[in-house]
Amino acid sequence: MPEQPFLERILISEEQLAARVHELGRQISADYRGKQPLFVGILRGCILFYADLMKNISVDCTMDFMCLSSYAGTGSTGHVRTMLDLRESIKGRHVVIVEDIVDTGLTLDYLMQHLKDRGAASIEICCLLDKPSNRKAEVHPKYVGFTVENEFVIGYGLDYNELYRNLPYIGVFKKQ
Ligand code: PRP
Repeated sequence: MPEQPFLERILISEEQLAARVHELGRQISADYRGKQPLFVGILRGCILFYADLMKNISVDCTMDFMCLSSYAGTGSTGHVRTMLDLRESIKGRHVVIVEDIVDTGLTLDYLMQHLKDRGAASIEICCLLDKPSNRKAEVHPKYVGFTVENEFVIGYGLDYNELYRNLPYIGVFKKQ
């Protein structure tokens, strides 16, 4: 691949992503057999991961989305905003939240507080990337694709100032 000015290096290749997402899909399908889970994608970062994960879910399920935002440039503002809420009720449902990355944990902490009173039968988190070294809130994802170091990552849904979400791999962003 030609050198990309925004890219320090590729961290997780397209092939590695596909293999791990396949495994996660199998594991979640086994855990939720007969439970008709509701997969809640957190836009916008989840979009590529969500689509690929769903293709690997082999149980009956439904899909819904929320749009949350807290980042500006390379930093979390710490202030999470709900831009779009769920369309369906989660009362009595087995909910799996699908996220691209858990970094400070502030987004999911906010979301869990927000969903807690809506009567779900269970709520678990599936994230593609987990960056535990940067946590500011207690969040424990049950399903994790990869654990990453404290580097700014882009691609496969993750952005820098809204760019690079379309890259088919996860890369480390090269600061200019
Ligand atoms: C990103 C990412 C997660 C969140 C994780 O979203 O998609 O939702 O940050 O960070 P945290 O654990 O530090 O809260 P962002 O607010 O950038 O919006 P986006 O999904 O539209 O990129």
